[in-house]
Amino acid sequence: MIFINFEGADGSGKSTVLKIIEERFNQLLAGDTTKKLIATREPKGIFRDIILDPNNIYGLTEVARMFLYQADRSVHTENILKPNLNNDNIVISDRGVMSTLVYQSITTDVSYDNLINITDIANNGIWPDLIIVFDCDYDTAKKRMDGRELDYFDSKGKDFYDKLAELYITTSEDLIENYGHDIVVINARKSLDRVVEEVWEIILGRIQ
Ligand code: TYD
Repeated sequence: MIFINFEGADGSGKSTVLKIIEERFNQLLAGDTTKKLIATREPKGIFRDIILDPNNIYGLTEVARMFLYQADRSVHTENILKPNLNNDNIVISDRGVMSTLVYQSITTDVSYDNLINITDIANNGIWPDLIIVFDCDYDTAKKRMDGRELDYFDSKGKDFYDKLAELYITTSEDLIENYGHDIVVINARKSLDRVVEEVWEIILGRIQ
C-alpha cells in the first residue's frame, strides 16, 4: 500500500483534484485485479457530523474537537488503512494528520509536540508515505468557495486563512527536516488543469 494525503486550507481545490485523480486511476487500473485506488477523507461519517455541526449542538470545545478528529483517525486507520496494508492498493485521503497539526495548533493550546504524540497514538504509527500540500491564498480560495455552503471553519475569515497557509509551510518544513516525511508543496493558485497534471506526475513518480 502507498498512503497519500492531500492537504491544504479550505478552498485550495484539493477535493476537486482528488476526484479527477481518482477517475484517472480508475481508467489506468481498469482490468488490473491486483491493485485499486481507494479515495477516502478525514473526518468521516458520524464523527464528521458531530465535529462540523454548524450549530455545535453538542457544545463541543476545541479540545474535544481535537480528540474527535483523533478518534475518527483511529477508526479510519483500523477500518481503511490496515485492510490495505499488505496489498498494492493506493489509498488517497482528503486531509489527515497534517490538518490536526495545523488547524488544532491554531484552535487549541495543545502544544505541537503533544499533537504529534496524540496523532501517533491515533494512527497507530501509520503516517502517510506522501503528503501533497495545496498552497493557496485567501482571495483565490474565497473565489472558489463562493456559492459553497460555509462550514464551521470556512466562516473564520482572512486572518485565520493566512495563519493556516503559513502553518502549512512551516509544518511541512518541520515534518521533512525533523521527521523525514515525504511532503511536496504545490502552488494551487494555478489553473485546475495544471495542478492536476502536477499532482498526477508526483504520484506516478512515487508508485512506479
Ligand atoms: P471539509 O469539509 O472536509 O473541508 P475541506 O473541504 O476544506 O477539506 O471539513 C473538514 C474540516 O475539518 C476542515 O475545515 C479542516 C478541519 N480539520 C481539522 O481541523 N483537523 C483535522 O484533523 C482534520 C482531519 C480536519
